[in-house]
Amino acid sequence: MSHTPPIKAIGASDIRDRKGGTPLVCLTAYTTQIAQIADTECDLVLVGDSVGMVLHGLPSTLSVTMEMMILHGQAVARGLKRALMVVDMPFGSYEESPEQALRNAVRIMAETGAGAVKLEGGQHMAQTIRFLVERGIPVMAHVGLTPQSVNALGGYIVQGKGSDRQRILDDATAVADAGAFSVVLEKVPAALANEITAAIDIPTVGIGASVGCDGQILVIDDMLGLFDAFKPKFVKRYAHLSGDATEAVRQYAQEVRARSFPGSEHMFADGHDDA
Ligand code: KIV
Repeated sequence: MSHTPPIKAIGASDIRDRKGGTPLVCLTAYTTQIAQIADTECDLVLVGDSVGMVLHGLPSTLSVTMEMMILHGQAVARGLKRALMVVDMPFGSYEESPEQALRNAVRIMAETGAGAVKLEGGQHMAQTIRFLVERGIPVMAHVGLTPQSVNALGGYIVQGKGSDRQRILDDATAVADAGAFSVVLEKVPAALANEITAAIDIPTVGIGASVGCDGQILVIDDMLGLFDAFKPKFVKRYAHLSGDATEAVRQYAQEVRARSFPGSEHMFADGHDDA
């Protein structure tokens, strides 16, 4: 199903113009209700392919499909009025050629109303980023730890340490030169993130990077304490919803077994009580 993308208050060019200004507030979202909450404060909401691990219980992002991204993108779009919605391109949907990337980016934008797509990779994806940008697709890049390359990287480990520093700097420079409107820096040393932020003219959005980045992003289920499978060092828990939910289920079970739920206020009387 395709539809006319809603015009959100914040566009990719507004995000780009925030370079060096008030830090960009970014979170992921995968559902309408969480998107509505994120929209109250966020400049950018990412429908991340982390949805595979966070909502679908997958062991990595590698088996996330275009269909999953589109379905969650459509749900998130219904919850946003203001923030820019960016949808991740899943593994295998853009690496083959610039033409494959364009075909899938167009599909994502047309079917979800996203204002931009995000893809992982630095120097080797620069040509593809340029190809998309020249055809009207705003692209957010993602360098440093790129989870879709977890097998090649040998795990979810910090990138750009020691002699690897120059590679990450070159990746960030390459995606900026190719026309990306912003770049996610994931799990790189803080000093390197600061150096990249000073060196390129597009906003850097850090996750496990540095407070000196032009913005920050977290997986919303992590910061709400909803996703408990593991807690990376860079996650700060602003709430503990998993504990609250567990306690609520425990109390419900106890009341059902004790026949104290439902109470009279939750049941219907005979007659005209239809509310
Ligand atoms: O998929 C995702 O949620 C992401 C963010 C962690 C940046 O790429």
